[in-house]
Amino acid sequence: MSSIPVCSEQDVRSGRGTRVRVNGEDLVLFRVDEHICAVANNCPHQHFAKLHDGLYENGIVTCPMHGWSFDVRTGAPVNAGGRLRTFPAEVRNGTVYVDPGTASSDDGR
Ligand code: FES
Repeated sequence: MSSIPVCSEQDVRSGRGTRVRVNGEDLVLFRVDEHICAVANNCPHQHFAKLHDGLYENGIVTCPMHGWSFDVRTGAPVNAGGRLRTFPAEVRNGTVYVDPGTASSDDGR
């Protein structure tokens, strides 16, 4: 599958997640420096879709439900037992594109 336009780059604000739906996938976009990262809005702990409401700082999102934290660049856990799925994302001409068919697996592969 190829990349799909999901929103304007300006819609992705610093310091918080931006929730988007792409081909039935509930995703959250985060700004990390000049890059946009896309992760599944599905916490591996108890699978609540609340990461878009999580505390976000320096590339790390913390789930508001029970405090598990993840690096949004890689999906790697910071203090958690699971891993976030990540999706390729890029900005072209001010539009954010995500490839929903190329997610990393829950174990990072
Ligand atoms: S559901 Fe996210 S930490 Fe529990």
